[in-house]
Amino acid sequence: MKGVILAGGNGTRLNPFTKIINKHLLPVGPYPMIYWSLMKLKNAGIEDILLITHQDHLADFKLVLGNGECLNISIQYEIQPYAGGISHGLLYAKKFVGKEKFVLMLGDNIFEDSLVPYVRNFNNQLKGAKILLKSVEDPERYGIANIDKVTKQITSIIEKPKTPSSNLCVTGIYMYDYNIFHYIEKLSMSTRGELEITDINNIYISKKELSYEILRGWWIDAGTHQSLYKANQLIQKNSDESREE
Ligand code: DAU
Repeated sequence: MKGVILAGGNGTRLNPFTKIINKHLLPVGPYPMIYWSLMKLKNAGIEDILLITHQDHLADFKLVLGNGECLNISIQYEIQPYAGGISHGLLYAKKFVGKEKFVLMLGDNIFEDSLVPYVRNFNNQLKGAKILLKSVEDPERYGIANIDKVTKQITSIIEKPKTPSSNLCVTGIYMYDYNIFHYIEKLSMSTRGELEITDINNIYISKKELSYEILRGWWIDAGTHQSLYKANQLIQKNSDESREE
């Protein structure tokens, strides 16, 4: 399986730092934020990775990561010319992915779980997509999944609901088959001017092809000052604990 990491966007919630540096190169513990996504993929056996970012930041990523040799992985790059949304960014992965299944990660998601069991389960899934959910205290910030109490299936996902009907957030860890590219090509722009990943996931729901699992450990979208601080604390705590063992 291949891996795709999105590291574009405007990062406005992390101003003023993001006026001079890409959000995903800000420090989380002793490494740039992007390192943690790369390591999660590598530890799940995914070593062929495409990183998608804006032209203005490409040189910085290449300076830090090069072709991935320093991490014993292969990193290729594509440019997303403007922040047109997660699904828009993903379009630039079409050639790289080919007909394979792949894992998509949002580069600002930092979390504790290993991806190994989820990737294994998705490998055994015949077709469609899989998403990973996590219960959160601020559901209005995220894509939120509604789950049928009886069938336990996801019935819909609402992006940043004003009155959330559940607190199960769709994390930025997604697994797809190559059909996603046909669906993105037919997608219309949302009211906030983006091609939304939530619209894609709702297409998979309508085809009854979206599975899900719930993350066990902590999970953070480090896209705000407060959550970036929290991510740093959690990474530090994890490394202190593993040193004590
Ligand atoms: O973190 C999980 C959430 O991520 C999900 O629950 C939401 O459903 C999903 O829409 C997304 O919401 P955000 O508001 O956090 O998205 P944000 O604009 O912050 O972008 C998330 C990541 O994707 C970030 O690492 C930057 C990257 N990105 C974003 C856009 C809009 C791109 O690479 N290109 C883009 O055009």
